[in-house]
Amino acid sequence: MSDSSGLWGGRFSGATNDAVAALSRSVHFDWRLAKYDIAGTRAHILALKAAGYLNEAEQVKIDKALVELDKRVASGMFVAKPTDEDVHSALERGLIEMVGPELGGKVRAGRSRNDQIATLIRIYLIDQATAIRGEVLSLIDVLTTLAEEHLSEPMPGRTHFQHAQPVLLSHHLLAHVWPLVRDLERLAEWKNRASFSPYGAGALAGTSLALDPNIVSEALGLTAPMANSIDATSSRDVVAEFAFIGALIAINLSRFAEEIIIWASAEFNYVKLADAFSTGSSIMPQKKNPDVAELTRGKAGRIIGDLTGLLATLKALPLAYNRDLQEDKEPVFDIADSLLLTLPAFTGMVATMEFNTQRMEELSSAGFSLATDVAEWLVKQRIPFREAHEITGKLVAFAESRGIDLNEVSDMEFASISNYLTPEVREVLTVSGSIKSRSGTGGTAVPRVLDQISALRKLVPNTSR
Ligand code: ARG
Repeated sequence: MSDSSGLWGGRFSGATNDAVAALSRSVHFDWRLAKYDIAGTRAHILALKAAGYLNEAEQVKIDKALVELDKRVASGMFVAKPTDEDVHSALERGLIEMVGPELGGKVRAGRSRNDQIATLIRIYLIDQATAIRGEVLSLIDVLTTLAEEHLSEPMPGRTHFQHAQPVLLSHHLLAHVWPLVRDLERLAEWKNRASFSPYGAGALAGTSLALDPNIVSEALGLTAPMANSIDATSSRDVVAEFAFIGALIAINLSRFAEEIIIWASAEFNYVKLADAFSTGSSIMPQKKNPDVAELTRGKAGRIIGDLTGLLATLKALPLAYNRDLQEDKEPVFDIADSLLLTLPAFTGMVATMEFNTQRMEELSSAGFSLATDVAEWLVKQRIPFREAHEITGKLVAFAESRGIDLNEVSDMEFASISNYLTPEVREVLTVSGSIKSRSGTGGTAVPRVLDQISALRKLVPNTSR
């Protein structure tokens, strides 16, 4: 039998069925909101006092009990019972055990679990967002430092996963940083929207007790009470947006994770993972596996599932509160937990992996990746690009048929392909020349990479060592 019928017992003559109590129960996952629930109640009794429903002595007595309860929750001395339905009812039981049913029974006036839970999930997620932000900042810091350390080392740049044009390793690494910077901006903007207080909305229509919701909002460090009590209790767009940003972070990590898995293969041999951040095989003694990168990639799938499930729960829900909304919590808890589990390991793996820059350099001119440089060199000789493309195409076909590289074509052979291909074209047939020439805004040339590093340090102060 469930105890929580204590919250509504008056109208009911029979006890709740066991299967229903088991279905209803959320305390096994919402217990993590306990300290936020206590903070909400401490704020609420200030509003009750201001409106004259509690006198000073009563408020002080309840507040002391709540502070003690908070300690007992933190130390594990006070825990939910199997008969407690949710975190709110468990903590109300705890408070009543400490101050008695008469005083403890006054606290519930003017609020509902509907406005309570809508507030708690916001302040909980704001804290999780701060923790996630810290982890993402560490990764940004590590990547920016790596970009500095490998400032002018080339690697093959790819499109369609084929060799395309040489780029700097630093440029490629920073390409993984910018999306993360935007994720942090998204989190900051999300926080502005999340920082409104549903408290005072009651079950859905507001309260007739003339409680000042500003008192609660301020005590919880939020911007202001929400303007519409129905919206306050029934909307979960803020929760869904958190889930989306979390999913995007996971997706951004997964794209880099996928590259690291490929880079660590014998065929690529671009990176060597540190022992502490890779695993062995139970049967194949030679194996060193990129499990951290694989789990990062795998977590993205799980997190996308959390987001999708949450959106499906919200779809077509009529206003105002429906119990379906209890299903909003586990997905976002899982997203925050998964990110906070993944990020430190992923960042550690990235910080400790060793780049085989010699191998990357050797391959960076493979696949005729300097062909665009030849075509652009012809354009600089005032040949229309259409013709330049055609001539360069012939040059590539010629080199390919001989099994040689573009810079191995002789002056005579150049001339036989086109009169425009004078020996001067050789100046762009080097990887370093190619990279140096791409010096326009956002390009891979060293000065543009340095621009990015200084811009990142201004945007994200933590990235300066
Ligand atoms: N456990 C509930 C939830 O997470 C709290 C609100 C319950 N409200 C209610 N009317 N039963 O949504």
